[in-house]
Amino acid sequence: MLRPVILTDIRSRFDMALIRTPVRIEQVQLRRRGMNRARLQEIKKALRRFHSFELLAGTTYRFQMTKNETEPERVRIAAMCNEMTHLADFQVKLYEYGWKPNKIRGIFWLGGMTIGTATRILGIRSVLKSGVWLENRAVKHYKELLETVDWDDDSREMVEKNCSDEMGHVERWTALLAEYDKVRHLKVAG
Ligand SMILES: [Fe+2]
Ligand SMILES: [Fe+2]
Repeated sequence: MLRPVILTDIRSRFDMALIRTPVRIEQVQLRRRGMNRARLQEIKKALRRFHSFELLAGTTYRFQMTKNETEPERVRIAAMCNEMTHLADFQVKLYEYGWKPNKIRGIFWLGGMTIGTATRILGIRSVLKSGVWLENRAVKHYKELLETVDWDDDSREMVEKNCSDEMGHVERWTALLAEYDKVRHLKVAG
């Protein structure tokens, strides 16, 4: 059933500290039966879009990694792990429905590599800013597909958990960017 999405409600329902959601064997199901063609088509399109976008996000983080022993590095490793979990979530759902990921998803890998490498070269501020930008886009994307696709209950729950994670990523990168700017301002002033 389609309904409006209130992002703050979704954010408050899930534990952001859980970066890899456990999956029990009974949760893996064959899901096609009893659904009409139009509904199946829109779920398929949405799962493929999510799967491709998660590939871009996880790859961006991979290519932004450095050997620095800093808090942004630690947070980035956690975010990468989280995006890998999201990618797996959408991949499993695609196969449960009898579909496969987008054949041209390699373009999204290339996009992630390009954004990740370019921002790493530009420096830590660009890396942090790109995190805020990318994750805000993800939240917008999640909200749109939560409101326009008639998900099955299990898939909706998974999409909402992942949406909450993306909101958490926005919060973390925003806080780290503010911290970085504060320290830089103090150095300039001092
Ligand atoms: Fe994600
Ligand atoms: Fe994210």
